[in-house]
Amino acid sequence: MKKFFINTYGCQMNVHESEKLAGILHQRGYVQANSNEDADVILLNTCCIRETAETRVLGNLGIIKKIKEKRPEVIVGICGCMPQKPGSAQMLRKRCPFINIIFGTHNMYRLGEYLDRVERGEKVLEIWDSEGKIETSPILREQGAHAWVNIMYGCDNFCSYCIVPYVRGRERSRDFNEIVTEVRALVESGYKEITLLGQNVNSYGGGSPQFGKLLRALTAFDGEYRIKFMTSHPKDFTEDVAEAMASSEKIANYVHLPVQAGSDRILKLMNRKYTSAEYLEKIKIIRSFIPDVGISSDIMIGFPTETEEDYLCSEELVKEVKYNNLFTFIYSRRSGTVADKMDGQVDIATKTDRIERLIKLQFEIGNELAKSYVGNKYRVLCGDVVDGVGYGKSSCDKSISFAADESKKGKFIDVKIIQAKNNKLIGEIC
Ligand code: 5AD
Ligand code: SF4
Repeated sequence: MKKFFINTYGCQMNVHESEKLAGILHQRGYVQANSNEDADVILLNTCCIRETAETRVLGNLGIIKKIKEKRPEVIVGICGCMPQKPGSAQMLRKRCPFINIIFGTHNMYRLGEYLDRVERGEKVLEIWDSEGKIETSPILREQGAHAWVNIMYGCDNFCSYCIVPYVRGRERSRDFNEIVTEVRALVESGYKEITLLGQNVNSYGGGSPQFGKLLRALTAFDGEYRIKFMTSHPKDFTEDVAEAMASSEKIANYVHLPVQAGSDRILKLMNRKYTSAEYLEKIKIIRSFIPDVGISSDIMIGFPTETEEDYLCSEELVKEVKYNNLFTFIYSRRSGTVADKMDGQVDIATKTDRIERLIKLQFEIGNELAKSYVGNKYRVLCGDVVDGVGYGKSSCDKSISFAADESKKGKFIDVKIIQAKNNKLIGEIC
């Protein structure tokens, strides 16, 4: 039986797109291999949002080249955001002539046809397709109680540092009823947690109140399950969404609300379209509807011209919000973006120093918060059990570990926090 292996880089969007690629391969009779070494088809589903992700792809291509030298019959394909970057597909073709298929995010659904063409001796390079269309393909989901569902694609925001609008194109929303049908089928087949995906879920269907309506429609099915969503752009997060979240236990008490920076001057240069005060006001509204909401964020360090004073505004904001979780990134230049052409690029030593300080600050805040949760009870979805320890998440996205046997896997369980150690919550089944 022929086997495939998919190397996935980057965000949840890519993880789910790999499930779609796997679905197409599965439909054609392929089974999953354990590694690149024993696969007949090797795919690299890439990301180019930051330089680090791109460097990893280029490094791994070196390893795959060696496999191809040993087994020339292996089919190698590269897809995702990276080939969509202007000039990148041609660079890959020149630098890595052993790649059989180069394709982008818009034509992933055509993988089957590309495999046929390779078998006929062709090399395939196809990037942009009909941008406006949303094509469906079979999905081979990862094992477990969690499933991803795309509700929209692309982004219209053009934050000045970000390459996503250039490589993933304009915002396109999936049909409302199609999403409802997909989520209902997932719930009926036993999935307990479903995450709705989009670069900017709050502008689903053209903007408020469509996303709030969608959330409410997804709470109508029988049984215990949770709906999560990401990512929310603060400028588009409206009160009706907080209201919808508060209206049903089936919508998780969790929001990923990337702020990116605490300085209003930097936020303006980033083209984020909100001030730190406006951002904090959104947090206040969300907390007024859902007092125990978990909020996480992305913060970027070293955006062009960022001074120590600007950086300290990010620290202040982090201290004020007290995030559940914070994802920190060093700004990296992306060619074609507005910020790439800005003067005042910050040197790497300063960026490294600031990000280390921010990570330390968040760790201290996380530790304090974790200690305050001791004694609290949470309903946890147990994702995995390893060596007698269950790992799960609460509705407000707190990660909790607890003694458990295999039978708890994939189930909702009530857990009481008994200890907080180095930012980690340890509980017991109650
Ligand atoms: N450099 C560093 N981080 C970036 N992000 C997006 N573009 C860049 C860039 N050029 C970060 C943002 C975004 C997250 C997904 O990646 O913080 O929210
Ligand atoms: Fe990039 Fe901004 Fe769109 Fe997010 S909202 S994908 S950061 S352009």
